[in-house]
Amino acid sequence: MAENGRRNEKQNKKQSEFESEFVVEARSLTKKFNGFTAVNAIDLSVRRGEVFGLLGPNGAGKSTTMYMLSTILAPSSGSAVINGFDAGREPIAVRRSIGMVFQDSTLDTNLTGFDNLDIHGRLYGMNGAERGKKITEVLELVELADWRGKLVKTYSGGMKRRLEIARGLLHTPTVLFLDEPTLGLDAQTRRHIWDYLRKLRAAGVTMILTTHYLEEADELCDRVAIIDHGEIKALGSPDELKRQAGETVVYLKTSGAQKQKQKLLAALKKKNFAANAIEGGVAVKCKSCENAIPALLRAADSQKIPVDAVEMRKPSLEDVFLSYTGRSLRDAGASGAEARRAAATARGFRHK
Ligand SMILES: Nc1ncnc2c1ncn2[C@@H]1O[C@H](COP(=O)(O)OP(=O)(O)OP(=O)(O)O)[C@@H](O)[C@H]1O
Ligand SMILES: [Mg+2]
Repeated sequence: MAENGRRNEKQNKKQSEFESEFVVEARSLTKKFNGFTAVNAIDLSVRRGEVFGLLGPNGAGKSTTMYMLSTILAPSSGSAVINGFDAGREPIAVRRSIGMVFQDSTLDTNLTGFDNLDIHGRLYGMNGAERGKKITEVLELVELADWRGKLVKTYSGGMKRRLEIARGLLHTPTVLFLDEPTLGLDAQTRRHIWDYLRKLRAAGVTMILTTHYLEEADELCDRVAIIDHGEIKALGSPDELKRQAGETVVYLKTSGAQKQKQKLLAALKKKNFAANAIEGGVAVKCKSCENAIPALLRAADSQKIPVDAVEMRKPSLEDVFLSYTGRSLRDAGASGAEARRAAATARGFRHK
């Protein structure tokens, strides 16, 4: 008992010492499978309360990284510290600190939603009263309270995913890992799940998610690591990454004669804009294009050149991926996991 008390005290002390900025820190994390390097010396620091995304195509090493951070897989080399606990030396403490939503469903569909959660709570050593209270709370959070007594096999895909998120939250983890939280769901259901994840972020839950959906990384993540062939190619907030990938371009469309276009070009260059003639108008590269548009229009007006339309194109995360890997995420086997899952489902079993 006294020994337990001392251990708890030590853990609490360690916990408070670790009220540091970073709740997950990985150094040179590497995983080799029979000589094949799936994850190659990854360094990561995830801030408390942030939503951190691992974005990459099929086979990039996202799940493998997540498995190492969550102690499911032992790294070949390197280290990971989660919530102040070393994944190699203190795996139990790490597991108590985290919740996990796996890429493929691990629900028992022949049980009710409540039973799936209840078993999980028992595995985590939660007592009856605590379990009951938390199950009600997490089911309400994901709007499944009315479905608690129904068999999971009668749930839709989106409802099953929500139930898995609820299960991941049951023991109040410091960090929630979500491996492809919206894989294979339709766009509307995906947005619905994002809303729950935003609620969790507002409640201060740190989340690490893997995705190969650009929109998911862009809309949900505070910072994104672009991962390809087991390596982090770029890391930053979606906006930072997009800024690094290129400048925003404004297109001023004018149906005026070629001579007029040249006049407009000269007027813009005089105002120090990086302008080029393009078919149907001029293109201007700028850092803060939204603010530059009035000045661009004034320059056109000063030369009495009618502008028929203004278009602005900001770099996307797709451009970021392209600039760091030389290929498009959409072409880089992004749909591979989905295709595998669809094929596996058609065969009546899950992959992995
Ligand atoms: N247990 C294993 N044994 C051998 N190779 C593995 C194993 N697990 C993963 N790999 C390989 O490691 C690489 C990374 O796999 P991982 O599942 O981490 O990718 P991912 O980015 O999660 O991809 P997906 O988008 O398909 O989920 C792949 O080439 C995969 O085939
Ligand atoms: Mg994966």
